[in-house]
Amino acid sequence: MTTVRNMADLRSDFPALSGTMRGRDLVYFDNGATSLKPQPVIDALNDYYSRYSANIHRGVYEMSELATAAYDRARESIYRFLSVDTETGEVIFTRGTTESVNLVATSWAREQLGPGDEIVLTAMEHHSNIVPWQQVARRTGAVIRYIPLTPEGFLTDEGITQTIGDKTRLVAVTGMSNVTGYMPPLERIIEVAHRHGALVLVDGAQLASHRPVDVGALDCDFLVFSGHKMCGPTGIGVLYAKKNLLESMEPFLFGGDMIREVTLEHSTWARVPEKFEAGTPNIAGAIGLGAAADYLMDIGMERIAEHEHRLTEYMTTVMHRFPFIRNYGDQSPDRRGGIFSFTIDGVHPHDVGSLLDQQGIAVRTGFHCAQPLMTHFGITGTIRASFFLYNTEEEIDQFARAVERLYEILS
Ligand SMILES: Cc1ncc(COP(=O)(O)O)c(C=O)c1O
Repeated sequence: MTTVRNMADLRSDFPALSGTMRGRDLVYFDNGATSLKPQPVIDALNDYYSRYSANIHRGVYEMSELATAAYDRARESIYRFLSVDTETGEVIFTRGTTESVNLVATSWAREQLGPGDEIVLTAMEHHSNIVPWQQVARRTGAVIRYIPLTPEGFLTDEGITQTIGDKTRLVAVTGMSNVTGYMPPLERIIEVAHRHGALVLVDGAQLASHRPVDVGALDCDFLVFSGHKMCGPTGIGVLYAKKNLLESMEPFLFGGDMIREVTLEHSTWARVPEKFEAGTPNIAGAIGLGAAADYLMDIGMERIAEHEHRLTEYMTTVMHRFPFIRNYGDQSPDRRGGIFSFTIDGVHPHDVGSLLDQQGIAVRTGFHCAQPLMTHFGITGTIRASFFLYNTEEEIDQFARAVERLYEILS
């Protein structure tokens, strides 16, 4: 029988939360950059390194079999996490979101696109979902088009339907802006793109760690995300892609473990997913990510989403009391994840970040790898507080008191 744990009790699973920063109790509001790691994930990594740190798929001895079984179990956890059928081979382990986007850009887009084909993006994308497509456009003659943003940084149905058209071959869009927390209407974008015969890549770096994602129901063609933002280790991430696409795509990297047969003249490829996992993979990382997915599923992604929803509403109420802040992407809670980005009149975001650091509060300041969105807003950066399952309303109160005090000092 599984017991439903109280959200407040989960804090004790994260050793870093009992630590201090600058001599103060840590308030960790930089989850958009990376999350803290719970003990079960640390234990899974430790277990692999201390008990059975052999290579996978190669040994006929017990340690290697244990490692292989743990690696395979980790992939099964990701299948469950995304509600994907285990048999499909549709989950590829990569180094993270950035590598997953580059894999699709290289193995699919550079092979398939030609002059005049259109790649549709938005100006709110993280650089890792813009720069690889610029490279594809440069090498293939494809053209990039951007769905226009409203002044607040949102998409409109008119913008979506007028930008995606018969020349569109791919739409690559974030599931949740890492700056504002705004969640574009993915279902609608996917429906419109598919109607025009285009594929859709969803950048799930922020989405997959904070909301339940059922890729079958969503019907996206590619979904990319990073382990480290969802309680897992760094250096491991996922590319989900529909099987027919993976089967038709050329491998991204070549070498051991991804082949069926090698002769002196030529080679043939293993089946998916191995075809896309050349060389010794990040075995420990995958095992840690599997443990992270299990941990989040035990709590329930719906509950995590509800918790963050409450925190974001509370943060909005508390912070909107201050006339000197400007909040970006304020939107109906249904379309907004646990991210609160703001500027303070006349104060540089880095100064705010440094003073918060002195209070033991970790936030991110700057352009958040989203310079085009900053240009759209006419600013150079924001202060971003981003939540996860272990954050509390008391921390938000502490944060608001610190912001009020530092405004008095800096203004
Ligand atoms: C929306 C979004 N996309 C992509 C990335 C890149 O992720 P990674 O650096 O883990 O590859 C991030 C990281 O902050 C992100 O927030």
